[in-house]
Amino acid sequence: RTINTDASRVDKAGYKHFMAKEIAEQPTVLADALRAYLDGNTIVFPGTLPDFTKVDRLTMVACGTAFYACLTAKYWFEQLAQLPVEVDIASEFRYREPPITPRTVALFVSQSGETADTLAALRYCKGRADSIVSAVNVAESSIARESDVALPIHAGVEVGVASTKAFTCQLNTLLLMALHAAVARGVMTQDQLAEKLAHLRGLPGLFNIALERDAAMADAAHKIAEARDVLFLGRGLMYPLALEGALKLKEISYIHAEAYASGELKHGPIALIDKNVPVIVMAPRDALFEKTVSNMQEVMARGGKVCLVTDAKGAAEAGEDVWRTIILPTVDPVLSPLLYALPAQLIAYHAAIAKGTDVDQPRNLAKSVTVE
Ligand code: AGP
Repeated sequence: RTINTDASRVDKAGYKHFMAKEIAEQPTVLADALRAYLDGNTIVFPGTLPDFTKVDRLTMVACGTAFYACLTAKYWFEQLAQLPVEVDIASEFRYREPPITPRTVALFVSQSGETADTLAALRYCKGRADSIVSAVNVAESSIARESDVALPIHAGVEVGVASTKAFTCQLNTLLLMALHAAVARGVMTQDQLAEKLAHLRGLPGLFNIALERDAAMADAAHKIAEARDVLFLGRGLMYPLALEGALKLKEISYIHAEAYASGELKHGPIALIDKNVPVIVMAPRDALFEKTVSNMQEVMARGGKVCLVTDAKGAAEAGEDVWRTIILPTVDPVLSPLLYALPAQLIAYHAAIAKGTDVDQPRNLAKSVTVE
């Protein structure tokens, strides 16, 4: 099967790259996706979701950026809905053939809906899991067709090989599912849901404010582009975002980048730190911020250059030894992964421009890996 991205029908609308256009589209696309899923403070899914009061476990399977969306959603389903979640990379899951316990829902996330390993993992779960749910960007794709319920992420056609608006739209769809499960399982009240939905509706506006800070992100990116190795750090919901930031930088600027849970620094990675290794710390001023500040101080004490991505409060508390600070608008901590995807995308984008790589079609990569 060829992947029909309809790229022929999509133009760059004046942007230098499809990736730049797709990054800039996120406020609009997220607002549209919310309109598609919300009827007032009721979340409306196409098709019948599993009864989450009868679900013991959620197994989520994907590849690449979609896997990081699942990793993020693990925190949401566990913290908001108190539902145990396992997350797996599809190419590991399908060959490990894990036992699927009864009352397990299997959830597959894929922009293209054609990724070979993810489709194989879905087929492994067919007949074993209680039900097969997917979140896809191509309604008539194989993964959508073979799911009991296929949830559209409403990202619109994404041409850039590096996933941007599809990632934030995957997060949006998964968060809506987690909120739905939280209310269904009696862990969240309708009023608490209404508050979260109000914050979600405000997110496109925060994206627009953050997009205005592109110059600060570009400035940091141009310096980061000189490095041979880059480290991303994050805790909690920011850990999957650190992973996504490292992948974005790797795949379009070809700079080696790794991501670690901030708490892991002392268990080895801090040996990597010297003045030549920029360390990008993704850390809104949330409950974990103090711990992240101490991690940053450990890095700076060893000559490491810290680029802190945070909000105004975080910037004020971090002190002036930080090498670069990118300040985003303050956001509900639950929604921070969607907003913090933006600097991850723009740092990679501007670093790639500085390196002169092919931003939309990076070397060795395809938009969808339909073969193993
Ligand atoms: C992300 O920027 C990459 N393009 C890649 O990791 C991608 O997320 C992965 O191949 C999964 O693709 P899918 O969402 O179409 O299944």
